[in-house]
Amino acid sequence: MRQEVRPVPLSGPYLGEREEELVLEVMRSGRLSLGPTIDRFEELVAGRVGAPYAAAVSSGTAGLHLLCVAAGIAPGDEVITSPYSFAASANCFLYEGGVPVFADIDPRTLNLDPAAVDAAVTQRTRAIVAVDIYGYPCELDELRAIADRRGLRLIQDSCEALGAEYRGRSLGSHGPSCVFAFYPNKQITTGEGGVVTTHSEEEWRLLRSLRNQGRGDEGGWLEHIRLGFNYRIDDIRAAIGVGQVERLDEILTLREEVAGRYGELLGGIDGVELPCPDDGDHHRSWFVYVVLLPDRPTRERVIDAFERESIGYNRYLPSIHLQPYMRERYGFREGLCPVSEDVSSRSLALPFFTALGRDAQERVAEVLAAAL
Ligand SMILES: Cc1ncc(COP(=O)(O)O)c(C=O)c1O
Repeated sequence: MRQEVRPVPLSGPYLGEREEELVLEVMRSGRLSLGPTIDRFEELVAGRVGAPYAAAVSSGTAGLHLLCVAAGIAPGDEVITSPYSFAASANCFLYEGGVPVFADIDPRTLNLDPAAVDAAVTQRTRAIVAVDIYGYPCELDELRAIADRRGLRLIQDSCEALGAEYRGRSLGSHGPSCVFAFYPNKQITTGEGGVVTTHSEEEWRLLRSLRNQGRGDEGGWLEHIRLGFNYRIDDIRAAIGVGQVERLDEILTLREEVAGRYGELLGGIDGVELPCPDDGDHHRSWFVYVVLLPDRPTRERVIDAFERESIGYNRYLPSIHLQPYMRERYGFREGLCPVSEDVSSRSLALPFFTALGRDAQERVAEVLAAAL
């Protein structure tokens, strides 16, 4: 009889007694929303990434949407973003009537290729949404130079990249407004949640109003000075976030160790391309572990083996422009972004989370090697 194998999940949060304590504190305080724990969480995140202001919101998507509102994106404005990302990187400006323009990615970093961005700018371009995919910093200086030269807003989707560094400094510290996200598969979690960091006090005040139904700093609960949203986080989730940020360094170190072990275990396997390593300018914050296989049929063969062995996986990431709603609405077809489409067809996320142990990783590597 075949021995039962222990499933290896794709991801999972890393929570402890500290988060429980902090949540209980909030529950006992009676301040479940709009309370001081949110301020504390924001201060911790701002301090950690080196941004003067932070506004916590209900999700990464909400944060990106608010930055698009703050950028004044209006119907018909073109916004350039990466096709190789999560759908929210494009959806955030679609909500305001923005028109998606996808520039292709660099095959090594999987981030936006600045030359492709530059070539995609037209008279109607209003903004660039740059993504730090899989926690690897985008080419921030080059993209900033393009945005400055062409008079565009640069919004940084760092939802997968809390703790990553570009040219020696944390993402969030460089100037462009950034969004970090805290869904349970992220480096740290609040369940659902996100934080927008900004270097502008004026933008920070606007974000706080927009997330809170358009209320002003002064004025009462029932006075709305602009069209707003309910994109608030609550104090319970902020409490989890406080506990998580307190040990962000520990979490990032453990994740680096997990990634390092995969590097050792998979480095020698023919046909497996590993995530691109750090260099002097880019320091990754490990979010997921995505490998490139030779082609789609090989990936599907590996997936069949993972399913038989109860190993978690995902086809990270399909190209956004080829999603059904994008094809239908804008008529995007194969061939628009060949690099992204090629990577999408053969990339595979392996189990990856803070507490993932060597035994499980060895099993993943064995099953992967055997399937190849
Ligand atoms: C690159 C990227 N952008 C945006 C988001 C949206 O974040 P959330 O799920 O918190 O709305 C995610 C989350 O998965 C993401 O990976």
